[in-house]
Amino acid sequence: MAFPPQFLDEIRNRLTCSSVVGRRVRLVKKGREFSGLCPFHNEKSPSFFVNDDKGFFHCFGCGAHGDVIGFMMRADSLGFPEAVEHLAQEAGLEVPRQTPQDTAREERRKTLTDAVEAAAAWFEQQLWSAAGRPGMEYLRRRGLGEATIRAFRLGYAPEGRDALRQALRRQGFEEALQIEAGLLVRPDDGREPFDFFRGRVMFPIADRRGQTIAFGGRILGDGQPKYLNSRDTPLFDKGRTLYALDRARTGVREGCEAIVAEGYMDVIALHEAGLRGAVAPLGTALTEGQLELLWRLAPEPFICLDGDAAGRRAARRAAERALPLLKPGRSLRFALLPPGDDPDSLIRAAGRQGMEDVLRQSIPLVDMVWAATLEDRQIDTPERRAAFQAELDRQVTLIADPAVQEMYRQEFRQRVWRMLRGPAPSRSRSGGGSGGGDRRGQARSRGGPPMVPTLPAATMPVPNPDRGLKILVATAIIFPEVLDEDAESFARLDIADPELDRLRRALLEVQDKRPRLDREGVRLHLITVGFGGIVPRLLGSSIFKALAFVRTDDEAAARENWKKMLLELHKREASEELRRAADLGADGLTEGWARRIEEMQREVARAQEQEIDDESPLLAPGDTTRRR
Ligand code: UTP
Ligand code: MN
Repeated sequence: MAFPPQFLDEIRNRLTCSSVVGRRVRLVKKGREFSGLCPFHNEKSPSFFVNDDKGFFHCFGCGAHGDVIGFMMRADSLGFPEAVEHLAQEAGLEVPRQTPQDTAREERRKTLTDAVEAAAAWFEQQLWSAAGRPGMEYLRRRGLGEATIRAFRLGYAPEGRDALRQALRRQGFEEALQIEAGLLVRPDDGREPFDFFRGRVMFPIADRRGQTIAFGGRILGDGQPKYLNSRDTPLFDKGRTLYALDRARTGVREGCEAIVAEGYMDVIALHEAGLRGAVAPLGTALTEGQLELLWRLAPEPFICLDGDAAGRRAARRAAERALPLLKPGRSLRFALLPPGDDPDSLIRAAGRQGMEDVLRQSIPLVDMVWAATLEDRQIDTPERRAAFQAELDRQVTLIADPAVQEMYRQEFRQRVWRMLRGPAPSRSRSGGGSGGGDRRGQARSRGGPPMVPTLPAATMPVPNPDRGLKILVATAIIFPEVLDEDAESFARLDIADPELDRLRRALLEVQDKRPRLDREGVRLHLITVGFGGIVPRLLGSSIFKALAFVRTDDEAAARENWKKMLLELHKREASEELRRAADLGADGLTEGWARRIEEMQREVARAQEQEIDDESPLLAPGDTTRRR
């Protein structure tokens, strides 16, 4: 009896080779493979290997080789149909009885495949011909190289009602078939069928073996819909397909990370940048079917979503959908991009390195669940804590695998406990000195009209104030306790870079959370609320990492430095204002200016009262705490 090939694929899809073999053979994981003693010949040392990526077993001793079905046949001496039936049951699949109609449908699928392939070839040919100029110009404008355009078989569907229909008809594909393949639309009013894709750049969608089964088409300019995808057809099941999975399988086999991005262009940009394990769902949230496909690719694929609110919602949704499907060793990691960026734009702006930084700062699923549950939630009363705990419990019980569920339960219990205990109390609280400074400053400048000020001699120019601000913020991320020092003054600091400014505000907000988050909690929170780009960039900068107190993780030194930096930056601000005022001259002074100057003079005075070391962290960022 013949089984439909897609049914056999489904079995191979659902059952990993190692889990089937693992029931008969004690397997040990070795990198990407498993090894064990061959069940088909006698041996003392393991020469039997199972590779889940490739879906087969192989014995270097006796040469036994095959997929899950082959294994069952050998191991239980079953015929092919019996092995298939057995595995189908295990995979929870109904064995289809092949009827003559089935055979006919199979034939039809073949001709459908041919039609879709012919369309792909035609779109491609259009792109590279004169008719495809607009499409080619669009792709070049988006920065794609010729090799990439060819590798992904990008194409162009020209404007006009029926260019494709005519071309395919000349090749002998009847209209009914073109309609079934989703290439033609038949209007309700009985007029001639017309091309589904018109005036679009075409992205062929392949199945896992590389056979084209559908298309996505992008409009060239603005317009709706931006992307048009083939509707589901006998060949194309959107929820069980990932864009570029065929190429990603090769990429991952060759050592690339498995990455899920949101869009076609993201996947292509990632591959072009050398991150060749990238795939994308097709315009919908990740489905269970797609998650299963992903886990066949890699045990812990990266879900790479935009850092904006929509991306974070999508991340939560993906996390919740993944929970029931978790197995020991198989999970997800979440890489959150800066708001406003997608992998495509990030790679254009920051190159492969920028993307790798984001991946490096990715968080495991458990952190995602934790942070998402904690987000927008206060847990400062017993009732609120209980609600928080209940929501954690709800998610934990979604996990079907008992071992994984238990581990999550334990992990969350510990985290809740650690959090309620709170971070260790900070050792030194200061700030008293600065208050006094303020008052004295006021006294000094009180009385008399504001003069056009001269620059205080002790105000040194700061070579790279931008860098100073970044170090200041980065320090507060790693050592959240420094915010106890002088949050108010930190909040007043003038930060021109809007993203850094937003990050500063988020940091100050975090500080209000009760109970306090520890360092890891703060970092996680910031990443999940949309600073997935800038945080890794700040913390990963070589200048920051080289700072002595960062290297030695010395909180007291960090505190000291932070205070000093803050002061210095304020002083710089004040001096600059004064300089600007001086440029304007006395005539230019409005009343507001005058008041501002007075304030500035106070700031400067206050700053001067604090002793400032020669070893300013701004002047010598490499070795600020040498003296320690
Ligand atoms: P985005 O709108 O984020 O598009 O949609 P993008 O990939 O950044 O596109 P460019 O860079 O503007 O070209 C993400 C994905 O959602 C699906 C597509 O798969 C797209 O790649 N989508 C989007 C649709 O299916 N239809 C749409 O109208 C828009
Ligand atoms: Mn984009």
